[in-house]
Amino acid sequence: MDMAAQTEDLDDVASPFEPVAVDRRYPPPRGIVDPDTSKGWIRRVMPIVLAHKFTFFGTLALALIANLLQVALPAVIRSGIDQALTDRTVSLNRYVWLVLAVGGLRALLTFVYRFGLYRTAFQIDSDLRNRLYEHLTRLSFGFYDRTQSGQVISRANSDIRSVQLFLTFAPLISMTVVMFVVAIVFMFTVHVPLTLVAIAPLPGVYWLGVKLRNELFPLSWIVQGRLADVATTVDENINGVRVVRSFAAEKAQIDQLARSATALRWATVRTVDTRAKNNPFIENLPRVGTLLVLIYGGWLVIDGQVTEGTLFAFTAYVTMLQAPFRMLGMFLMMGQRAKASAERIYEMLDEVPEIIDRPDAGDLTAAEGRIEFDDVTFRYGRNDADPAVLGGFNLVVEPGETVAIVGRTGSGKSTVARLLGRFYDVDDGAVRVDGHDVRDITQASLRGHLGLVTDEPFLFSVSLADNISYGRPDASREDVVAAATAAQAHDFISELPEGYDTVVGERGYTLSGGQRQRVAIARTLLGAPQMLVLDDATSAIDVHVEEKIHHALTEQLSGRTTIVIAHRLSTIALADRVVLLEEGRVAASGTHRELMDTEPRYAEVLAHLEDGDDA
Ligand SMILES: Nc1ncnc2c1ncn2[C@@H]1O[C@H](COP(=O)(O)OP(=O)(O)OP(=O)(O)O)[C@@H](O)[C@H]1O
Ligand SMILES: [Mg+2]
Repeated sequence: MDMAAQTEDLDDVASPFEPVAVDRRYPPPRGIVDPDTSKGWIRRVMPIVLAHKFTFFGTLALALIANLLQVALPAVIRSGIDQALTDRTVSLNRYVWLVLAVGGLRALLTFVYRFGLYRTAFQIDSDLRNRLYEHLTRLSFGFYDRTQSGQVISRANSDIRSVQLFLTFAPLISMTVVMFVVAIVFMFTVHVPLTLVAIAPLPGVYWLGVKLRNELFPLSWIVQGRLADVATTVDENINGVRVVRSFAAEKAQIDQLARSATALRWATVRTVDTRAKNNPFIENLPRVGTLLVLIYGGWLVIDGQVTEGTLFAFTAYVTMLQAPFRMLGMFLMMGQRAKASAERIYEMLDEVPEIIDRPDAGDLTAAEGRIEFDDVTFRYGRNDADPAVLGGFNLVVEPGETVAIVGRTGSGKSTVARLLGRFYDVDDGAVRVDGHDVRDITQASLRGHLGLVTDEPFLFSVSLADNISYGRPDASREDVVAAATAAQAHDFISELPEGYDTVVGERGYTLSGGQRQRVAIARTLLGAPQMLVLDDATSAIDVHVEEKIHHALTEQLSGRTTIVIAHRLSTIALADRVVLLEEGRVAASGTHRELMDTEPRYAEVLAHLEDGDDA
């Protein structure tokens, strides 16, 4: 394993620790977004585009040839008309074959370059997506505390799409510009006044395009925003369906959806309206150009100043000339949108993960499980003005010891568990495992030795066996059953028609709260961590079952260090030692009996907790 080779092991003991699922199954994204924030958005995304430079520039070259062939076609037909039909100096057959060849080649190249361009675009899209997702998985809990993760994903999807669309569209439109230049040079060399007539409507075409964009652009933002509103309402209704139903609030929710749907309808109808009013002009202005060329050019032909072939070529070019002007408005709009999207993507990519392994971090191998909180100060916010959750917190848990942490709600008990797993870094002091500061060891190895079970276990929508073996996908069925048995989950799982192969619903909702907690405990036990933290992990499990779990735990993992955070006397009684957490520090420590006798605050907190439990 790479990581182990790079870093020096902290212990001499052969490592029993293997991080799970750290091997990539897919190649990494081929390019990164330039981290230099002072650069423009296109320059920052360039490394990802350049990672595909052969296909990208190859298809662009093909596109250029295809477009030049398209410009050449009217010129070839012009010669054909003049030489084969009017002058009869060359056989018509030759021109028929030439036109077929040019046209056929152009069709073939167009197919190849479009295929290549879209393929590259979707590869860029996929790289950008993988890059972003990889980054999101590395961001610290602090980021997710501040951000709505659902929004992140949906926003990332549409933003990546708009950047990708622009990256595909920009080269295409630059090709039409090339076409424009070649055509106009050709026309000027043939007949200057006729060319001037042909390009006369172009300013009008451009002006219409800009006008339409100015009207549509704000509308498109409104539509996007309202679409998101509708999506949020629907999403909340589905995710929160249990709450909605239990308050009989269906009608209010439907009203709310109807409101956002009406608002969306207004914006979309306005969009259609604007388009309908402008499209007749946009579509017919080119015809005005053709008309002018036919009138003036026809007169020139009768007068013998230009040939019939030239007139034909000019009418063909009139339409071709307008393409870039028609698309310019849309191009600018897409550019603006892509820029805004890219900036939102970069905002996430520029978010620096707060918790990262030090370059010289070593692996924590065979842990004994001595836990030490040394004068720890911690606040969630980054400002000194934010209240410190922990201040001068000192606690040592010896290997094999079971310590219960007791404290009022909000006193910082779960925070202690999160600091031990280094999900946040302390502001002052240190958290040590076996004497090593957790900031000096790799996160993967630290968490490999730490089992953390919370009161809200998240289960994946896979089978129970797969949920239990999540941290050790290679575990045998016997191991899974043994872990489930210790967590008192085996009995109820066996009673399910499909047993361990039962697929649980989203977030495990097909199970009761207590059943879910037991599955989560089994999942943690399977990893046989040396340190175990049960944070209200048995709150939904009844006292008898809980007792059995603790009993099994003591047998199965004797010698492990355990921290239990509990509200119940029955749980607390199992601990060797109890610490009382108050005002961010350990206010008292001792056995349950000792504290009951000597510490009035302890009895008081316990009384509160028991009340809360009954309520
Ligand atoms: N992610 C967070 N961001 C900001 N503040 C937080 C965060 N998590 C907890 N807090 C705050 O830190 C304090 C301690 O929270 P913690 O979850 O550690 O309490 P607790 O003792 O586990 O409470 P409970 O018994 O209710 O589980 C609380 O005041 C809480 O509001
Ligand atoms: Mg808590």
